[in-house]
Amino acid sequence: MKELSRRELLVRGTGLGMGLVGVMLSVPAIGFLLSPLFTKQKLSWVTVGPIDGVPVNQPTALFAEVPIGTGYATPPVKRVVYVVKKSDGQIRALSNICTHMQCDVHWDPSLGNFLCPCHGGLYDIDGKNIGGPPPQPLAQWKHRFRTDDQGRTVLEIENQLDESI
Ligand code: FES
Repeated sequence: MKELSRRELLVRGTGLGMGLVGVMLSVPAIGFLLSPLFTKQKLSWVTVGPIDGVPVNQPTALFAEVPIGTGYATPPVKRVVYVVKKSDGQIRALSNICTHMQCDVHWDPSLGNFLCPCHGGLYDIDGKNIGGPPPQPLAQWKHRFRTDDQGRTVLEIENQLDESI
C-alpha cells in the first residue's frame, strides 16, 4: 500500500472537510424547501357569520376567508359555505365544490336541489349526490356555533376541509 505524502494528505483532508461543510450547509436549505410537505396544516376556526336569518329548507350561500395550506405564506381563500337549516333543527355547512371536477355548484330553488352547471350534477338538500356524474356527496365543513354579544347565533367552520376531492 502506497504511503501518502504530507501534501496529498493535506489535499485530501481539505477536500473531505469542504465536502462535509457543503453537506452541513445544504441540510437546512433542503429542510426548508421540503418542510411544507411534512408540515400539518394549522387548524383554526373561522367565523362565517350570523345564521339566524337563514330560512328553513332554503340553502343559503355565506362566505368565509379560510386560511388553507402550510409552510409558505398563503393568503386566506374566499370559500362559499352553504348553510342548510332543516325543519327538524339540523344545520349543515356544505361545500359548494362539485365532487366530480370541482366546479361551483349552486342551490337551484326551481329544482329544489344543488345543481352543478358543468355537467349537470345534482345533489339533494343534504348534499347527497342524486344525479349526473358526481361520485360523492358534497363535502361538509366541520362547524360549531357561538352566540355573539347581540344574541345572534354565529356559525364558525374549521379550515380542515379538503375540497379537492
Ligand atoms: S364538475 Fe360537477 S358535474 Fe362535472
